[in-house]
Amino acid sequence: MPSDLIDFTSNDYLGLARSEELHKLIALQKITDVRRVNGSTGSRLLSGNSTEAEALETFIAEYHQADCGLLFNSGYDANLGLFSCIAGRGDTILYDEMIHASVIDGLRLSHAHTYKFRHNDLKHLEQLLTKAVGQLYVAVESLYSMDGDFSPLSELTELCRVYKAGLIVDEAHATGLYGNSNRGEGRVSELGLQKSVFARLHTFGKALGCHGAIVLGSSSLRDHLVNFSRPFIFSTALPLYSLQAIRCAYEMLERHPLAKSELHSRIQYFNQKVTQAITISKNPGPIQHLLVSGNKRVKALALGLQASGYDARPITSPTVPQGKERIRICIHSFNTSEQIDGLMKAIDNVLDAPDK
Ligand SMILES: Cc1ncc(COP(=O)(O)O)c(C=O)c1O
Repeated sequence: MPSDLIDFTSNDYLGLARSEELHKLIALQKITDVRRVNGSTGSRLLSGNSTEAEALETFIAEYHQADCGLLFNSGYDANLGLFSCIAGRGDTILYDEMIHASVIDGLRLSHAHTYKFRHNDLKHLEQLLTKAVGQLYVAVESLYSMDGDFSPLSELTELCRVYKAGLIVDEAHATGLYGNSNRGEGRVSELGLQKSVFARLHTFGKALGCHGAIVLGSSSLRDHLVNFSRPFIFSTALPLYSLQAIRCAYEMLERHPLAKSELHSRIQYFNQKVTQAITISKNPGPIQHLLVSGNKRVKALALGLQASGYDARPITSPTVPQGKERIRICIHSFNTSEQIDGLMKAIDNVLDAPDK
């Protein structure tokens, strides 16, 4: 894919992955352990642990007002590791039907009963909760990666309180963008629900522009993961330079509240430009979509947009249900109003072009 296309596809919402300032900040970091300049040399339980990894976990947990955190090599690993081991035989995990594939894969490895509820449908969730057995868990994303809508977190925490279910919130797409003091701690913090959730997942590969993830929760959750989460136990730990990059990215989040405001004003601009005539979403966050039924058609339309200079990708079934194929449009703090205008025009043009 040519790199000169205008980016309406990456998860680099705040432009940190391409930030020279962040790059320089990372380059200034000192190597504190010359024995492990390049790699961590092993899993955290053997030679791969470091004071830097533990300090970073404490720093990030405090940043998000959580008790504890455990780093994972990616968000995929974190969800796999969390959902495969959190519930036992006889317990139940209920999950939103639009939950990310990494949660689904974790659930496949779990011994618990697992049932999905209709997307953001609290009534359906409650019906399932009344029948569920054992220790109960509910899994949602705070900002959905495909539909781009929020989950009703306040109502969910209340429902989970009534049914004594642990709420697990994947904040992958909300990290860096929402918070209670413009620091990007996520939707849980923005809504003041830190004490009402069982666990949160934050990933560093999206708005933070790096790689890796952390699961936040109680110290007993952390202990449980250290002892039973196989992607944590049986994988080489993140190297020192990744840990340093993640810390620097958090520093940038605090230093540059402007990027978040810019992103939110771009989202507002995008939503103002969406006309009734086009079936584009008007989501509150950076993830938008243009629904185009059929894999062949959605791929052709995405190619048309790319030929016009706009990088927006098709999401085909079975990644999304048949008939719900779409062009996914991600808005960034660095997208200009002119670029958004141009994209809208290009969408009009490709939709008007006769099907080949
Ligand atoms: C909601 C959600 N959770 C988890 C992940 C996995 O994160 P990572 O890319 O760090 O593996 C993603 C990535 O697309 C995601 O969208």
